[in-house]
Amino acid sequence: MSMRIAVLASGRGSNLQAILDAIEDGRLRAQLTGVFSDRPDAPALYKVAEPLRWSARPKDFADREAFDAVLGDAIAASRPDWVVCAGYMRILGAALVRRFTGRILNIHPSLLPRHRGLHTHARALEAGDTEHGASVHLVVPELDAGPLIAQAVVPILPGDDVDTLAARVLACEHPLLIASLALLAEGGLNDCMDRLPLDSQGMFTPLRLDSAGHLSR
Ligand code: GRF
Repeated sequence: MSMRIAVLASGRGSNLQAILDAIEDGRLRAQLTGVFSDRPDAPALYKVAEPLRWSARPKDFADREAFDAVLGDAIAASRPDWVVCAGYMRILGAALVRRFTGRILNIHPSLLPRHRGLHTHARALEAGDTEHGASVHLVVPELDAGPLIAQAVVPILPGDDVDTLAARVLACEHPLLIASLALLAEGGLNDCMDRLPLDSQGMFTPLRLDSAGHLSR
């Protein structure tokens, strides 16, 4: 029985595509239960067959809670083992996060806890950081604050601008996400799930992605 993954996406879906490719070629023993978006025109939706697509417009709802309630019902109805935010650009309300606590992941384009939030590449450049990267973490109500699972590090090179840095980070996001999901699919996180502080306090030492695409301490 392969791991069931619900994916939340708002845009182009390159991380979703990485998941689809990994399932297709056997690197990830999983199946998609659906792609859920806050944008009916999100290109990510059209990477899967129509029955797996779900979208709604937040502006059609009274408030965040109302939208999140309907989104949460749709996700729950697809019976996922894990909920993966892969380029989902809306903040998840606390009630929605609590509904899937402990099994909702996000991939974020920075070395958390540095540069939570948006515009991470510009901020890393402005801060004069010498390295940057991506983080896979458990989602808690506080933005980008959940316990880290794994990270991939890339150098910031002389002459980098936002575009060159974003491209280098995106290139490491895909193997990082797949390696992290593969670990979950093989039950690899269980050995430290009991140590995961499911509140946003504290983070245990994340696994590190090596150049061969493997995770290690
Ligand atoms: C990625 O940088 C991801 O880390 C961030 O959204 C960006 C777009 O992701 N959360 P995708 O290409 O839509 O998967």
